[in-house]
Amino acid sequence: MTMAQHSHNHPPVPMTSIACTGLSGKISVPGDKSISHRSLILGAIADGQTTIQGLLEADDVMATASAMRGLGANIVKQENTWFVDGLGNGALLEPTEPLDFGNAGTGSRLTMGLVTGYDFPVKFIGDASLSSRPMGRVLNPLRESGLQVESAEGDRLPLTVHGAPLPAPITYRVPVASAQVKSAVLLAGLNIAGTTTVIEPVMTRDHTEKMLAGFGANISITMDEDGARHISVEGQTDLKAQDVIVPGDPSSASFAIVAGLITPDSDLTIENVLLNPTRTGLFETLLEMGADLTIGNRRQSGGEDIGDIRVRTSQLRGVTVPADRAPSMIDEYPVLAVAASFASGETHMLGLDELRVKECDRLAVTARGLEANGVDCAEGETDLKVRGGPVKGGATVETHLDHRIAMSFLIMGLASENPVSVDDTVMINTSFREFVPLMTSLGANLTVS
Ligand code: S3P
Repeated sequence: MTMAQHSHNHPPVPMTSIACTGLSGKISVPGDKSISHRSLILGAIADGQTTIQGLLEADDVMATASAMRGLGANIVKQENTWFVDGLGNGALLEPTEPLDFGNAGTGSRLTMGLVTGYDFPVKFIGDASLSSRPMGRVLNPLRESGLQVESAEGDRLPLTVHGAPLPAPITYRVPVASAQVKSAVLLAGLNIAGTTTVIEPVMTRDHTEKMLAGFGANISITMDEDGARHISVEGQTDLKAQDVIVPGDPSSASFAIVAGLITPDSDLTIENVLLNPTRTGLFETLLEMGADLTIGNRRQSGGEDIGDIRVRTSQLRGVTVPADRAPSMIDEYPVLAVAASFASGETHMLGLDELRVKECDRLAVTARGLEANGVDCAEGETDLKVRGGPVKGGATVETHLDHRIAMSFLIMGLASENPVSVDDTVMINTSFREFVPLMTSLGANLTVS
């Protein structure tokens, strides 16, 4: 069994969280998932040996590591360092087996882009959640470069792609705010002669651009008069191996942050968190809600802003979260909805269209979890209203193979009147294996139920 298969077909492990007070201590969360995937992918096509410190060792990223091995890279861990050796000259090998991405949307979509410039077939498979997610958003632009796609059911996994012998560079205006789509097209451009350009009207996380520049790609970014970013990469220029240091994942930090805010008498610190402005929408929103959050030890590492976040118990108030903030906090809405449940007044979150196509329909599943636990909320087509107050709790939330739903509702139970259960916690391993031990070390009461 490969590491990518960990979370497939598992027996569920339900868990319950119980109210607590005085969460305290200092923790570090594991490495950023987005940067981890990209460091393996770029390492696999760069010349020389890439080293990675702080790689996220969760199932999603391990699936990308297996996929890069399947494409010819040698990837090993020694002591605390991961070593990635590509074949050199941007070469990849035709995989002999399907690439199994488990639950990993980012790994699968970025790899579809990566292999678009290579004339061989690659089969992509994944778990039930990944197999229900739309892949057309990345396959459509890649088809313009000549990618052939065979899928049983409307651009969903399982599917096989085959790059053209002479793929064409494209200029593509990204129609949805998606870093995965942007990144897939840019990665495709790396092995296509000529200039590939992505036009991004709404800025999304910029790790691909930053890391491509760091690996020596010929990349340029300009802004047009409408504020759209034009990102161009020159194909078939060699990338050079890098020493990557991965900072702590702000999306993982968000669970401990909200826990510290909603439980009485808490004071905790999360060290070494990535503070790239394309990722900090949740912090901004919580500050507007009156959260006592302070950032210390601000520094730069590997071209990224990082810092330590101190959180103290706060009475939050409802706010309106504008739609244009969604890309910088897209994975944080479930846990924001939990924070909003304990706030005074109404929190109105706008521009949530993309939540419908995450690991599950996160807008609907979040609303059902809130309702089940007695929280007054209203789910619109693309928005969510949450009216806060004391939270009754007492229900079991259906997590639909979604790690962030599981973690968010376990946080709710730390401050609700009755315990909150989730039907399965195995999927937490896709992004944050240390979630339960770290939360327990701060004083949280989580038990397998
Ligand atoms: C990611 C982009 C986002 C995000 C995902 C990670 C990335 O997805 O939800 O968790 O690393 O590029 P979209 O591009 O679909 O918004």
